[in-house]
Amino acid sequence: MSIEKEIKRVTTKALYKLKQKGVKITALTAYDFITAKLLDAAGIDLLLVGDSLSNVFQGNETTLPVTMDEMIYHTKAVAKGVRRAMIVVDMPFMSYQLNVDEAFRNAGRIMKETPAGAVKLEGGKRVAETIRKITEYGIPVMGHIGLMPQSIHQYGGYRERGRTDEEAEEILNDAKVVEEAGAFALVLEKIPAELAKKVTESVKIPTIGIGAGVHCDGQILVTPDMLGLNTDFHPRFVRYYATLAEEISKAVKSYIDDVRKSEFPSEKESY
Ligand code: KIV
Repeated sequence: MSIEKEIKRVTTKALYKLKQKGVKITALTAYDFITAKLLDAAGIDLLLVGDSLSNVFQGNETTLPVTMDEMIYHTKAVAKGVRRAMIVVDMPFMSYQLNVDEAFRNAGRIMKETPAGAVKLEGGKRVAETIRKITEYGIPVMGHIGLMPQSIHQYGGYRERGRTDEEAEEILNDAKVVEEAGAFALVLEKIPAELAKKVTESVKIPTIGIGAGVHCDGQILVTPDMLGLNTDFHPRFVRYYATLAEEISKAVKSYIDDVRKSEFPSEKESY
């Protein structure tokens, strides 16, 4: 049996094993019960309740507005659909930046109030102390470096990070610091493929890329993006695996048509 089939429940140890065996880790975002159930049944390894729910679920321009309560609410719904995948929850903006104790309290809330297996937070050196404290008390932390959407107003746009030698050096160093602080895995967002390769070879923990090339230990995409639901947003790192926006539009138009013509419901569909 292949190693990914042998894993009945994905844990931090299982992800580490996949990296060691050279088996790519598969990850997607989830925000609701039905989608989580489908993704889990299809065999995805990791489901991230991402703060991208602020964009793709709540319709905000950035990830900044989503709250702790909302992240917890969505994680509870996701968890009800999941049997095998590891659930990781994004710590929303301002839930971990204020100080280490506040970060620890909020990470603890996520673990206490939901069945999640880990939390994720953005940053390198600047969050090392926070990662150390949270992991010391038994809460697994996933790091996130490269493009960090919670810092969007500082960047002034979503351009890729790590193009200059200085930025690349900082990202490489941040990866090592995050690993040393105790993170079990690391998201690399929108950085050059060669830099992601270097980072992946420099750390023992698995790297999960989004717009970071093929050399990462795994890949993650925002589910409504890769299903072709969110067609307003199509950066080149998003591959459409379906065109659900078109499918939904077609289905709804047919329904409207049928209702207007009294062709729905039929006799068979009535009592
Ligand atoms: O919130 C999110 O969806 C993420 C992914 C882009 C990794 O952090």
